[in-house]
Amino acid sequence: MSGYEAVYRRSIEQPEAFWGEAASGIDWDTAPRTVYADGRWYPDGRLNTCHNALDRHVAAGRGDQPALIHDSPVTGVTRTYTYAELLEETARTAGMLRALGVTAGDTVVIYMPMVPQAVVAMLACARLGAVHSVVFGGFAARELAVRIDHAQPKVVLSASCGIEPSRVVAYKPLLDDALEQAAHRPERCVILQRPQCRAGLAEGRDLDWAEAVAAAEPAGCVSVAATDPLYILYTSGTTGAPKGVVRDNGGHAVALHWSMANVYGAAPGEVYWAASDVGWVVGHSYIVYAPLLAGCTTVLYEGKPVGTPDPGAFWRVVAEHGVRTLFTAPTAIRAIKKEDPSGAFAKKYDLSGLRHLFLAGERLDPDTYHWASDLLGIPVIDHWWQTETGWPIAANCVGIEPLPIKPGSPTKPVPGWDVHVLDADGRDCPPGVEGAVTVRLPLPPGALPTLYRDPDRFARSYLDRYPGHYLTGDGGHFDAGGHLYVMGRIDDVINVAGHRLSTGSMEEVIAAHPDVAECAVIGVADELKGQLPMGFVVLKAGADRDPGEVERELTALVRERIGPVAAFRRAVVVSRLPKTRSGKILRATMRDIADGRPYTAPSTIEDPAALPEIETALKGS
Ligand code: COA
Ligand code: AMP
Repeated sequence: MSGYEAVYRRSIEQPEAFWGEAASGIDWDTAPRTVYADGRWYPDGRLNTCHNALDRHVAAGRGDQPALIHDSPVTGVTRTYTYAELLEETARTAGMLRALGVTAGDTVVIYMPMVPQAVVAMLACARLGAVHSVVFGGFAARELAVRIDHAQPKVVLSASCGIEPSRVVAYKPLLDDALEQAAHRPERCVILQRPQCRAGLAEGRDLDWAEAVAAAEPAGCVSVAATDPLYILYTSGTTGAPKGVVRDNGGHAVALHWSMANVYGAAPGEVYWAASDVGWVVGHSYIVYAPLLAGCTTVLYEGKPVGTPDPGAFWRVVAEHGVRTLFTAPTAIRAIKKEDPSGAFAKKYDLSGLRHLFLAGERLDPDTYHWASDLLGIPVIDHWWQTETGWPIAANCVGIEPLPIKPGSPTKPVPGWDVHVLDADGRDCPPGVEGAVTVRLPLPPGALPTLYRDPDRFARSYLDRYPGHYLTGDGGHFDAGGHLYVMGRIDDVINVAGHRLSTGSMEEVIAAHPDVAECAVIGVADELKGQLPMGFVVLKAGADRDPGEVERELTALVRERIGPVAAFRRAVVVSRLPKTRSGKILRATMRDIADGRPYTAPSTIEDPAALPEIETALKGS
């Protein structure tokens, strides 16, 4: 078995044999005898994920190898942790959590910037068998409160501040605000004090991180079932309530370890850099877990592609740390291209060690592909995945066999993923015909087994539409050669600068404005960020307001309730929304208009004049 086709076929035809072999890449406390049963992988296996990420490498002689390089242009600090140091720090932090009463199965919310302690916190939870839930720092207090109420953490781990190029973002007041809004009360909050801004600590509830860790005894690894949850990561669905994607321990460890060699072609000891944030799935999988499970050195970069200090920032990091594999979002490359179109900054650095650039998080448009590929002269690889899947569904698996690159396509399904493009009746679409991209069950190890405390929503969101298939929510097609093209979401999820956001949650915020009668938010194409949200609002009768003022108020409201990351800045007042006679807003038609696709007004439309009004508003935007 060597070429892609043979490996792929075996993974689909004999999944148990395939994933049974892949499981040997992981150290088990109890090796699984059953590979798959009742929708769960390795149901009788036991392991500890932190042991596999740290302890086993130290035991095997990698103790002095760098495990984590924190490169922080926003603070001017670079610090390297060896595997032995990262293990020591993690064991102590786990000891601190244990002293606070955290045990296997308890949840811990982590709301932190891109500092090494965020990675340590995640691994420390894994060490105890506790379930972490990391919340991205760019979300507002209310979003944090919603997640705290759903995850019900025993402890919250946070920091005094995060650092954005333009400002220091005080995290602690956001946390305090979130805890006031939340019904759930964590027993303790442990706060990392950063020198850029110190936080006030609430007597009896808050602890100083450094003091608490210094006082703790190191804790060992707790053996958990492969099917026990490792983490919950909330992601945007089509409504305002985020979905708690659950990741198990065993399938996750096996799949991520396998992906490093086979998808990314990365070997132990190499430097692997995912320029993302630990608050997103890319950060969970490819900043923290996969590189460490594979014995690589991971880079934790606290900065931006541009402005920290210039568009050469990524190339400096690559050259300085000997990065072999770089993974980021297309929007980051577009940001660099915009400021340095000729690639002059890249030429200042020795990039000869860089072997591959992987891109994901949104569709890789062919222009960006060509620019990066011409600049770097290495394979630029688009790959497609989601928070739910945890690792790539389609990619060019360079570790198995590099396939021809077709710009605009993330190449072919990754072994384990039985991808089908289905029409409305559930039949496979012929090549070239667009449909709903689905994955035939079972999903491979590492994919979500359920949604936290909401198995019904799991079934409703992903499984009910096409029985026997997982619905990805993306639309696309295969070409005649089997290359997959993923063209965009077919639901109300949008992708802003590689960040996944729900238009539904923005609509909930806008609808709360006292002058708004009803509203719809859709994503419109943006050259830099891929998409930007745009709101269409109908004001209440008698609300004689200046549209510019309404837009400013709504912008401020979304920023306050959802967070700056939503990048909501455009809201136009319209006289009515396009609706069916039964009152359903025609969002799909609005999306067609926004994307410049031909559309036809459905025969059920209430008022045909509503669509031209949307078209005019979009043209003027
Ligand atoms: N904490 C607090 N605020 C944050 C934040 C964080 N962790 N991350 C972002 N924000 C804020 C930003 O400061 C910005 O605020 P502003 O409106 O006051 O300027 C806002 O959220 C939007 O941030 P961002 O989407 O990062 O836009 P940007 O204009 O600052 O930068 C890019 C644009 C393209 C450089 C940036 O989006 C980027 O690097 N994207 C890569 C995406 C990525 O890693 N995706 C993960 C999947 S691979
Ligand atoms: P997230 O859950 O934040 O990773 O976002 C997942 C969504 O991002 C997918 O459902 C797609 O809509 C989009 N996406 C991610 N990677 C790609 C890609 N390579 N090509 C096209 N869309 C992508």
